[in-house]
Amino acid sequence: MSVRLEDVWFAYPGVPTDVLAGVSLAVGQGESVAVMGPSGRGKSTLLGVAGLILKPRVGQVLIDGQACTPRDAPQLLGRRVGWVLQAVNLLPRRTVLDNVTVPLLAMGWRRREAREVACDRLVEVGLDPADDREARTLSGGEAQRVGVARALAPGPVVLIADEPTANLDARTAALVGRALFSAAKQTALLLATHDEALGALADRIVRIGEPPELADGS
Ligand SMILES: Nc1ncnc2c1ncn2[C@@H]1O[C@H](COP(=O)(O)OP(=O)(O)O)[C@@H](O)[C@H]1O
Ligand SMILES: [Mg+2]
Repeated sequence: MSVRLEDVWFAYPGVPTDVLAGVSLAVGQGESVAVMGPSGRGKSTLLGVAGLILKPRVGQVLIDGQACTPRDAPQLLGRRVGWVLQAVNLLPRRTVLDNVTVPLLAMGWRRREAREVACDRLVEVGLDPADDREARTLSGGEAQRVGVARALAPGPVVLIADEPTANLDARTAALVGRALFSAAKQTALLLATHDEALGALADRIVRIGEPPELADGS
């Protein structure tokens, strides 16, 4: 399994109640799981634990079979563990291609290899690598697709996507969602969304914070 949460309990500092109480979840390579449920029930917290931002009080996170904690984040984040967030944070005055290439160069990739991989990932999300517009002029859906290409370019084991289409209109969200799922085929995709149409693209849906009669979809 590419990412596995084993009996994870998590509470925010100074808050007596657990947001996550005994959560276990595994996502394999090439598999996608959508975490769904009402706002405030712990979707982002679950992703934060899986994505090495938050340290569980009890339980553990395994990435590629190895137990990992936020201490490992400096080595793993952006490389083995990729993130796509609701608000994509692009280099505003750089091109689409630069936005995907620059982080690879910062990781020590050779320029030629970085450009090749960046071009491939951009094509996979439906963007033109030769598009020389500055990122600040892109539409919301284009910018979010650059964010997906950027997160996938280093070849992460796990891609964590927290409400990646929440800022977009329904049509654009569907386009970005399809690009995300098709580009993420090689990785374990763990997505949080309240968009049923986006969740339906996942191999599995995990519902949190809902009574059982809702959780089974009836
Ligand atoms: N930094 C924080 N400190 C304290 N409580 C938090 C913090 N972040 C989130 N929470 C609380 O944890 C619960 C789950 O939040 P979250 O994981 O963001 O839910 P979701 O993503 O499903 O909307 C909520 O009650 C929220 O108020
Ligand atoms: Mg959230």
